[in-house]
Amino acid sequence: MAAGKVDIFDTTLRDGEQVPGCKLNTKEKLEIALQLEALGVDIIEAGFPISSPGDFESVEQISKAVKNATVCGLTRAVQKDIEVAAQSLRYAVRPRIHTGIGTSDLHIKSKFNSTREDILQRAIQCVKWARNFTDDVEFYAEDAGRTDNDYLAKVIEAVIKAGASVVNIPDTTGYCLPYQYGEKIAYLINNVPNIDKAVISCHCHNDLGLATANSIAGVIAGARQIECTINGLGERAGNTSLEEVVMIIKQHKHLGLHTNIITEQLNPLSRKVSDTMRMPVQPNKAIVGSNAFSHSSGIHQDGFLKNAQTYEIITPEEVGADSSKIVLTARSGRSALAYRFQNLGFQFNRNDVDVLYNEFLKVADSKKEVEDADLSLIAKKYQSNVALA
Ligand code: KIV
Ligand code: ZN
Repeated sequence: MAAGKVDIFDTTLRDGEQVPGCKLNTKEKLEIALQLEALGVDIIEAGFPISSPGDFESVEQISKAVKNATVCGLTRAVQKDIEVAAQSLRYAVRPRIHTGIGTSDLHIKSKFNSTREDILQRAIQCVKWARNFTDDVEFYAEDAGRTDNDYLAKVIEAVIKAGASVVNIPDTTGYCLPYQYGEKIAYLINNVPNIDKAVISCHCHNDLGLATANSIAGVIAGARQIECTINGLGERAGNTSLEEVVMIIKQHKHLGLHTNIITEQLNPLSRKVSDTMRMPVQPNKAIVGSNAFSHSSGIHQDGFLKNAQTYEIITPEEVGADSSKIVLTARSGRSALAYRFQNLGFQFNRNDVDVLYNEFLKVADSKKEVEDADLSLIAKKYQSNVALA
């Protein structure tokens, strides 16, 4: 792998699909998997095969259809899970088993009623079981965000020795601050002797709205895989949003990082996932929200019309969004109004626009947004008044 290449591991079909009401059938999952492959993701986490016959079938069908991306199945640190995952992945050109266990003291005591030593042995064991089926084994240390760094380093060293080639450091509860998550990755790089034999992966949840920031802190510190979902879908407040991390990496070239994502496909796939999962995207969502390229305040509109870069750091074309919009509200100014009249075919001079602006404000104060039909009415009334005068 090139030094600055960040692998994009999409888990929309596994962690994203865990959202209540977002369950997909095999046909829907297959369609999305093929579009994820076309988008350029490196790894598609297709499901949790032991969880249900439907999930098993989806992973199997996706394994048959996907040719370039790695297809991955999730398991617990349980032999049967791993055998079933291997079975569902048997047609994959590039199969990956993603196995692991909780490593924070809270998980060790409350979930497993166990000890650090026992969990260490179980972690080693699950990687060995998985290696019986494929060379591509990823280990996750669930709740790594709240795991003691010294113990985490011991577990990571041991699972790499057992054959894991990717080590996932999930901030399962979205607990970390970006500097803490970055320091955790740096700690592993500096304290795990065999870390050069594995790729470090960031898997961040969004409980405090920090999933994207934490993933970026992780790759700045040296991780080279990000686990994310389209539209940031996922349990509770969601996962890291694929479109956000990809565009941050593209925008900030000085980081020396890149991905293989074809960014023009981000908005079409966002819409497809939103429609299929019946999960609307919030209008102010970065990159894919309906307002991501809308300008409504007078100061912004005036600047944007002089030079789009004054208020847009990426173009809508770059991410496959509809063209930028000048939205007319009571906060809009004269330049935006003149621009919209011009688009509707009306030619008005500055004095006309001054008069029309007062009429426009009366309508704007009574409505959330002034539409083309409202503008046409205002313009035609003004033209007939002028003709009569
Ligand atoms: O959030 C998490 O810890 C996970 C693991 C199962 C990878 O989703
Ligand atoms: Zn997760």
